[in-house]
Amino acid sequence: MKATARAHTNIALIKYWGKRDESLFLPMNNSLSITLDKFHTTTAVEFCPCLPVDLFIMNNQLASSTEMAKITHFLDRVRGMSGKSWHAVVHSTNNFPTAAGFASSASGYAALAAAATKAIGLDLGNKALSQLARLGSGSACRSIYGGYVEWQKGEKKDGTDSFAKPVLEGGDWDLSIVSVLVTDTPKTISSREGMKRTVETSPFYSGWLDSVEADFLHAKEALIYHDFELLGSIIESNALKMHATTLGANPPFMYWNRATLDVIKEVQSLRSGGIQAYFTIDAGPNVKVLCQPKDEQAVRESLEKLPNVQNTYLCHPGPGLTYL
Ligand code: DP6
Repeated sequence: MKATARAHTNIALIKYWGKRDESLFLPMNNSLSITLDKFHTTTAVEFCPCLPVDLFIMNNQLASSTEMAKITHFLDRVRGMSGKSWHAVVHSTNNFPTAAGFASSASGYAALAAAATKAIGLDLGNKALSQLARLGSGSACRSIYGGYVEWQKGEKKDGTDSFAKPVLEGGDWDLSIVSVLVTDTPKTISSREGMKRTVETSPFYSGWLDSVEADFLHAKEALIYHDFELLGSIIESNALKMHATTLGANPPFMYWNRATLDVIKEVQSLRSGGIQAYFTIDAGPNVKVLCQPKDEQAVRESLEKLPNVQNTYLCHPGPGLTYL
């Protein structure tokens, strides 16, 4: 019983930041994302009664025991849903370096949810796959779909109303995302730990909660009406608010480094020069810059010139889940 699936990474336009239930990965707020065309994870899962344990091979290497335990925990859910107790071999490959600052857990758990359920004989629709992927990593629930995607936080305690759904197809509005790599060193504070510490200790977290729903609604409206300036200004301000909460945490922390600030300044100066470009930053120092296709080369060239920028990758909205 074998199946292979592919899912693409996504970047958050309105951030998921904070959980109301940690074991069910239920978020405090609605979020919005773009699935990217360039970066994906391909995962093959094979269940067999012959296997005594699960095996997880990541980019052709046996995963660490910590990673293995996470995968087994996730596969336990799939086994629970199917009533079968077989173990599995999981082969997962990213087409981008895992430490390059892209959210591999989002594409990783989306691809795993699809391949594992199919391999064990379950036939789940996208909504159920989104709910399942969420239980591996929250942002993974959005990588089930292509284009522009929202994650409804839901209200229910059991999480049955917390899943992603498409807002706009990628082809409905082509935007460019210049992904700027300033470091490939893995971050010391994971998004999971960072959001938990912020919820528990930052006095600024209540400010986040007070404003994020309006950001979400306005950004969604800007998407639907193709209002680029409005979308850009909201996503930039939403990212800054998220990062501001970390400064108030105890102990405080910050995901940015010097080069992150250089990129922010460059984006601001591009705007003063009449090029509409806006930045967003997830839980790490790397920056994603949103612009319109007519400006993508100019934006990319100006960012590539910065001395501390290691690389830039030009992305567009990408597809949802596929089975290979
Ligand atoms: C800042 O989905 O990686 O990128 O649910 O704990 O696995 P867990 O966290 P994760 O958090 C992503 C946080 C973010 C914003 C976002 O993607 O919306």
